[in-house]
Amino acid sequence: MSDLLPQIDTQRLPHHIGVIMDGNGRWATGQGKPRVFGHHSAVESVRATVESCAELGVGYLTLYAFSTENWDRPELEVGALMQLLVDTIGSEMKMMLDNGIRLATIGDTAGLPQATREALQLGIEQTSSGDGMTLILALNYSGKWDIARAVRRLGQEVAAGRLDADTLDEADLSTRLSTHAYPDPELIIRTSGEHRLSNFFLWQAAYAEFYFSPVLWPEFRKDDLYAAVIDFQQRERRFGKTSEQLKQATNP
Ligand code: IPE
Ligand code: IPE
Ligand code: MG
Repeated sequence: MSDLLPQIDTQRLPHHIGVIMDGNGRWATGQGKPRVFGHHSAVESVRATVESCAELGVGYLTLYAFSTENWDRPELEVGALMQLLVDTIGSEMKMMLDNGIRLATIGDTAGLPQATREALQLGIEQTSSGDGMTLILALNYSGKWDIARAVRRLGQEVAAGRLDADTLDEADLSTRLSTHAYPDPELIIRTSGEHRLSNFFLWQAAYAEFYFSPVLWPEFRKDDLYAAVIDFQQRERRFGKTSEQLKQATNP
């Protein structure tokens, strides 16, 4: 039993956690191995993170798995990542079903190789009756892509006369993002000591709490996730208000 788990208040969990899984390449290089070895080893970290979030009762977990910029990596690495997705959906199916997980994707999945698209489709279908956590894989995803697509949709609807351009508001844009069915992430974790969003949830992260872990992703385990949640629960989320106002609201 983890020492950290009992410190988590399960009544105050983040509804949606986003994870920027980073450091696979550096971890492998540090072991004198090729970068793809790091990607393969990362499957265990994915499993630990998915299981711990599902067990805690987190509603939504988004894993940033492949950005629109990641196409610029060597072809061999991109190919290995795409194949790894196919293999991992197969190898983790039982874990997802056992945990009541429903698989979903965000991103321009039409741009993924056919075998990857088919494996994702199968995974989504096979887990569709899951009544627990929604696991969202961000694939060929970027925040700018998401916002640009939403704006394009708004433009089309305005042109078709279904929407009035003069009254467009934040909700109109939010509801056209790929995440329209999910709450905004309250906690965003990035591993490997890097402090940037790398084009992840640009719009959705407006009020997210950030947690940066020095751990390289292939070494990330349940206790690292628990530590992030505990840190999140110790923060005061003010949403523009003052600390005094928040205290008055809880002790009127
Ligand atoms: C994260 O690890 C995996 C993906 C971005 C697909 P990296 O492959 O970015 O590892 P580093 O950052 O090079 O160490
Ligand atoms: C961010 O990691 C993308 C994913 C985790 C999928 P990168 O390793 O690609 O980010 P940069 O290029 O270092 O910012
Ligand atoms: Mg990286």
